[in-house]
Amino acid sequence: MEILEINHPLVDHKLTVLRDLHTPSATFRLLVEELVTLLAYEATRDVHVKKVGITTPVTATTGVKIADPAPIVVPILRAGLGMLEGMTKLVPTAEVGFLGLQRDEETLEVSTYANRLPDVLTDRQCFVLDPMLATGHTIVDSVHYLLSRGARDVTVICILATPEGLKTVAESLPDDAHVRIVVASIDEGLNDRGYIVPGLGDAGDRLYGVID
Ligand code: URA
Repeated sequence: MEILEINHPLVDHKLTVLRDLHTPSATFRLLVEELVTLLAYEATRDVHVKKVGITTPVTATTGVKIADPAPIVVPILRAGLGMLEGMTKLVPTAEVGFLGLQRDEETLEVSTYANRLPDVLTDRQCFVLDPMLATGHTIVDSVHYLLSRGARDVTVICILATPEGLKTVAESLPDDAHVRIVVASIDEGLNDRGYIVPGLGDAGDRLYGVID
C-alpha cells in the first residue's frame, strides 16, 4: 500500500481552519471542498488517459483525455458526500457510486446499510472519499467491497488518518491490489472514544450539523 501525505502550505492552512472548533459548518463545507480538490490533484496523477487528435486554431496536434472506462468516485456516506463536489469539479467525467457504512460507537464495528455501485469494477480506477481514516475499519470494508467486485486499482482520499488506522488497512490487503491513500495529515492517533487526535471532531456533524 502506498501512502501519500500532502505537504503543502495551502493544504496546511485550510486544514488548520478546518480543525478549529469555532469554524462554522458553511465554512467547513467550503474548506473540505477546496482541500479535496488539492488532494485530488495528486490522487489522480496516475489516472488512465488515451491519446486524442485535435485541431487548435493554429494546427492539428495530439493531446490526452481521460480514458474509458471512466474512473469511479465512491463517497462513503455520510461524511464522504462532503468531499464529492471537490472531486467531481476536477474530474467531471468520473462516474459516481455510493457506499453507506456505519460505525457502532461502542464496539467501533462497521456495517453496510447502502450501496449503489456497478456489479463489475474490473479495469475501473476507483477513488474512495472518506474524510476520516480513524480505526481504518470503514476503509478496510469499503476497499474490500470494491476488490470483491473486481477492482484492483483503488485510491482512498482522506483528510485525516491515524498511524494505527493506516496499519490496519495495509495489513488487510491482498498482494495483488494496488491501493493508495492520499491524505492531508497523518495525526497522532485515536483517543479512547475512537476520535482522531488532534483531529477535527465528528466530520459528519461538522459538515451537516448534529441530528438529535
Ligand atoms: N470519524 C470522525 O468523524 N471523526 C473522528 O475523529 C474519527 C472518526
